[in-house]
Amino acid sequence: MGTKKRIGILTSGGDCAGLNAVIRAVVHAATGKGWEVVGIEDGTAGLLDRPMRYKVLTKAMFDTSIMRLGGTVLGTTNKGNPFQFPMPDGSFKDRADEIIGGLKELGVEALIGIGGDGSMAILRTLAKRGNFDLVCIPKTIDNDVSKTESSVGFETALYVATEALDRLQPTAASHDRVMILEVMGRDAGNIALSTGIAGGADVILIPEIPYDLDKVAAKIAEVREEEGRNFALVVVSEAVRTVDGSPLQVEHHGGEKRYGGIGHYLSEKISAKTGSETRVTVLGHVQRGSSPIPSDRLLAAAFGVHAVDLVEQGKFDRMVGWSNRQVIDVPIEEAIASYQAVDVNGTLVHTARLLGICLGD
Ligand code: F6P
Repeated sequence: MGTKKRIGILTSGGDCAGLNAVIRAVVHAATGKGWEVVGIEDGTAGLLDRPMRYKVLTKAMFDTSIMRLGGTVLGTTNKGNPFQFPMPDGSFKDRADEIIGGLKELGVEALIGIGGDGSMAILRTLAKRGNFDLVCIPKTIDNDVSKTESSVGFETALYVATEALDRLQPTAASHDRVMILEVMGRDAGNIALSTGIAGGADVILIPEIPYDLDKVAAKIAEVREEEGRNFALVVVSEAVRTVDGSPLQVEHHGGEKRYGGIGHYLSEKISAKTGSETRVTVLGHVQRGSSPIPSDRLLAAAFGVHAVDLVEQGKFDRMVGWSNRQVIDVPIEEAIASYQAVDVNGTLVHTARLLGICLGD
C-alpha cells in the first residue's frame, strides 16, 4: 500500500442502468484528486472471500464505453445479509466482522456504497460497527428511496416501460385487445404511474391505491362506447394485490419470493368482466438491463462527483440525492427511515385523474 488516499466502491442490491456511469464518475473525480479507487466485487461478498475479490480502478479502464453499458462491471448481489449470512449447512452466521476486517486490510479510508434502501441500511450498520467512513449513492429502478427525487436507474426503467406501451398500442389496436403490462417497482407504484401517464394508458393500478374491478371494467367499456376505441392499455405494478388482498408471488431458487403474477390474474378477471380479449406482457428484468438514458447518465455523473466531494470534505454517513435540479446530501439514517411510495395526493396522481386515466378507485 502506498501513501495515496485509498477509497473503496461497491454496488449492492439489484442492478439497474447507470451503475457503470456512477463508478466512472467516482473513478474520474477521485483519481483526479490523486486518490486510488478500489472496486469491490459483488457488493460486500467480495470482502468475504479470501483472497478478497477487488480491483484497483483506473481512469484508463473507464473510458466512455463502459458508461454506456447496463449492469455493473463490479457485479452485485441482493442476497446474503452479512449479519445473517446463509451458510451451506442451512444455518445463519454473522459475518460482518470479516467484511470490516477486509476493508481495513485493503487500507480503504472511506467507502462509497451504491445501493437501494436495503443495501444502505446494511452498509450503515457495518460502518457503525466497524467505525469506517461511508457515503451512499441511491440507485433503484423502483425510485422508492426517500429524500431524493430520483435514484439512478429509474428514468431508464421508465423509458423502457413507456417504449413497451408504445409497442403494445398498435398491436392492441390491430387485434381489438386489452393489453396488460405488468411492471416492476416492488412495493411502490412509481414505475407504473409514470409509465402509464407517459405511455397513454387507460388504466393504471398501483399498490398505493386499492382498486375495484367494476371500475376498471367500466373504464374499458367507456373507452369502447364513448371514444369508439377498439383497444385499451392497462399498466399494473407488480405489488398490486388480488381483489381479496393477497400478494401474488413467485418462488425462486432457494425459496426466495418475488412479486409476479398480477398481470395474468387481472387478465382473466378483465376478460371475464368485459368480454374483451386480453393479452399480458410481463416486462421483468428488461427494465433493468438497458443502456442508461441521458438523464440517468447525468444523475450518475453528478452523484458520483458529489460523493467524492463529500469524502474530501469529511462529510460521512450521508447519502447523495437530487432535489430541484441540484445535487444534495442527507443523513443516510433519514433516507432509509421510510420508503418513497407514490404520493396519492401528488401531482402525478392528480394529472392521471384529470387525463381520465382510471386508477381503479
Ligand atoms: O428492486 C429492484 C427490483 O427490480 C424490483 O423492482 C423487483 O421486485 C426485484 O428487484 C426483482 O428482484 P430479482 O432481481 O431478485 O428478481
